[in-house]
Amino acid sequence: MSEQRKISLTVNGTRHEKTVPVRLTLADFLRHELRLTGTHLGCEHGVCGACTVLFDGYSARSCLMLAVQADGHDILTVEGISPDGKTLHPLQQAFHDNHGLQCGFCTPGILTTLIELLRDNPDPTEEDIRVGISGNLCRCTGYHNIVVAALDAAKRMSDVGGRRSKTHTDIRSPTSDL
Ligand code: FES
Ligand code: FES
Repeated sequence: MSEQRKISLTVNGTRHEKTVPVRLTLADFLRHELRLTGTHLGCEHGVCGACTVLFDGYSARSCLMLAVQADGHDILTVEGISPDGKTLHPLQQAFHDNHGLQCGFCTPGILTTLIELLRDNPDPTEEDIRVGISGNLCRCTGYHNIVVAALDAAKRMSDVGGRRSKTHTDIRSPTSDL
């Protein structure tokens, strides 16, 4: 029987305490233990970006991390992007309005990646966006409308005052105090 360990972490603003196998990945923990299936698994070896979450504010491949490594940490998944769990975040609305997705498989990872990018660079260029999402593979869109949506989101987020429309957990920049 595999070794188990008790972990305590915050996911989308909610504290969870669970006992998990030490070899369970963070992605499987989110999907199977917490039923947060918005975090997708494509390659399961760090290439496609579909499993991207924010880990203490930094984007991270949840397929490459163990759940026990998240003990004591703060995780944001795509389910936590909405400011209140009902209203679309401006980034999500921009993706909807600009057809920034087709099948949607890559979308959760791209959204979490862009949440970090737009937080740290509220006025990105097209190149900034393309470089920023270069670790996220999309088999459908050709990326064009994703880039259009991201640029539109940046504008919307600056227009609503506050550039940083808060997410569920209001994860701030890890370097904001530096
Ligand atoms: S499933 Fe994690 S990077 Fe592809
Ligand atoms: S929309 Fe289908 S993989 Fe990106």
